[in-house]
Amino acid sequence: MVNPSGEIKRFIYSDAGELSQAAAHFIMRAAREAIAQQGYFALMLSGGSTPRAIYAHLAQSDLIKWARLHLFWGDERCVPPDHPLSNFRLAWEVWLSRVPVPAENIHRIRGELAPLQAAREYEQEMQRFFRRYASSTLKVGQGEKPLWPSFDLIILGMGSDGHVASLFLGDPALDEKVRWALAVEHRQPPPPMGWRITVTLPLINAARQVMFVVTGKEKAPMVRQALERGSETAALPVQRVRPRVGQLTWFLDQAALEAEA
Ligand code: 6PG
Repeated sequence: MVNPSGEIKRFIYSDAGELSQAAAHFIMRAAREAIAQQGYFALMLSGGSTPRAIYAHLAQSDLIKWARLHLFWGDERCVPPDHPLSNFRLAWEVWLSRVPVPAENIHRIRGELAPLQAAREYEQEMQRFFRRYASSTLKVGQGEKPLWPSFDLIILGMGSDGHVASLFLGDPALDEKVRWALAVEHRQPPPPMGWRITVTLPLINAARQVMFVVTGKEKAPMVRQALERGSETAALPVQRVRPRVGQLTWFLDQAALEAEA
């Protein structure tokens, strides 16, 4: 049990710059610990813009055994990997193209495929990885399909509407109980609209660690709601992120904490 008490940790920083450096150190330490303990680090990256500075700090790190690092994404827009909206492209340009992580360790969501095919292939990619590296930890369900993988760390952003990954309020994907990844058609703001691939809440909540990285005053009202209450059946996607046994940690800047004036 990583976090038997279910306690939620919060780290508050004066600004996004200070948060990004601290978050990068947190990730590097988690990587070193996991690699020392089990020989690999399965890290799931967030999309959006907040992680950019974190990834830039990680690009400067020489403290990670890159060949032991495996990268996945929590969600992806259904666009090619070189598209400006691609979550993969952000991480690639700012970080992964600048460090010697083996290409086979980068398990990107293939947004260039048809959405349903992309979701299915990504789910199979995750299953292959966990069968190879962590078969002992998978509670294999009926039909030999593993139930849920334990990512060592999942990084999440949060939209000001309370969405996480590409799980949006009112979307049936929020109630998914079996699939590891789904294709969702995001039709209303916040942009970008269109088809996306997202991991599901049970996968997120099976992680050993989940870290939110949230900055800016426009998110403060939602941060307050997210921290005040949460459960796997709560209305807001962000309120449903409650790792079953893993540690949930929030990285916030002061602006994202400030109450409404
Ligand atoms: C996406 C992200 C999404 C993001 C939040 C926060 O693909 O859009 O995964 O969940 O993390 O919208 O985005 P910002 O960091 O840009 O505020």
